[in-house]
Amino acid sequence: MSLSWGRRYLMCPPSFFGVVYEINPWMHREVTVDVDLAMEQWQHLVDVIGAAGAQVDLLESEPGLPDLVFTANAGVVSGDLFVPARFRHAERRGETPFDVAWFVAHGWRVEELPAEVDHEGAGDTLPFGAVFVSGYRWRSDARSHAAVASLTGTPVRSVELTDPRLYHLDLTFCPLDDRRALCAPDAWDDYGTKVVKELVPEPLVLELDEALSFVANSVVIDRTMLMPACPPRVGRQLEAWGFDIEVVALSEFMKAGGGPRCLTLALDVGSRLLDQPEQQ
Ligand code: ARG
Repeated sequence: MSLSWGRRYLMCPPSFFGVVYEINPWMHREVTVDVDLAMEQWQHLVDVIGAAGAQVDLLESEPGLPDLVFTANAGVVSGDLFVPARFRHAERRGETPFDVAWFVAHGWRVEELPAEVDHEGAGDTLPFGAVFVSGYRWRSDARSHAAVASLTGTPVRSVELTDPRLYHLDLTFCPLDDRRALCAPDAWDDYGTKVVKELVPEPLVLELDEALSFVANSVVIDRTMLMPACPPRVGRQLEAWGFDIEVVALSEFMKAGGGPRCLTLALDVGSRLLDQPEQQ
């Protein structure tokens, strides 16, 4: 069975995108971003998402907020509820009022996490079956997970992220359907690895070098996968499972430590999630 979500996304054009600060190991201020190429790559991503059958909603870009393009971090969507992120780094905190304004204007309810916890939205929280899998350490606090669970009414399975280069869950985990997911256990502690193993009956385990090419940061729309890279070994398994793969060039966004998943926030998470009995 295909994912019950992933057919509607929020995206933000890279009009003010750049690498102007360094908050993850991929970002280097001395590396120049080609702004025209970034715009072309982003537009191509919008086009292939549309061609794969999903809807794209747009958040306006804002001067001074170069990472607003990474809408995955805006917050957690669950049905008609939006829980805005609490960014770890001051550099990104200015994004939140614009995210909240968009969701309010489009009919979502907004509920806030406690002020003292960090949590970076869908970048660290992805649905799998009837639960959320949520990462913590580099950007989100472990104790944010209890708040996400109680606000959304959805159980959260916590996974500690151990590699600073794979600083968000969505660089290490990609749900494919209700049985399968791309998994990069090299970026998880032993307990987190056990949690995912118990949850995902058919994992496709990525090698560390594959995860470092952001292979897990893919957008899945039904049986289409939009991937920043696809090693032949991974491609063969995905094709055997019935997925069509399209590799999307996103070199300019990789300079900021982000791939296709980071540039999208699924807006259709949760309505059916809440109806399903919890899998144990
Ligand atoms: N430069 C951004 C940051 O460090 C990249 C965000 C990537 N987002 C993601 N969902 N993995 O915050």
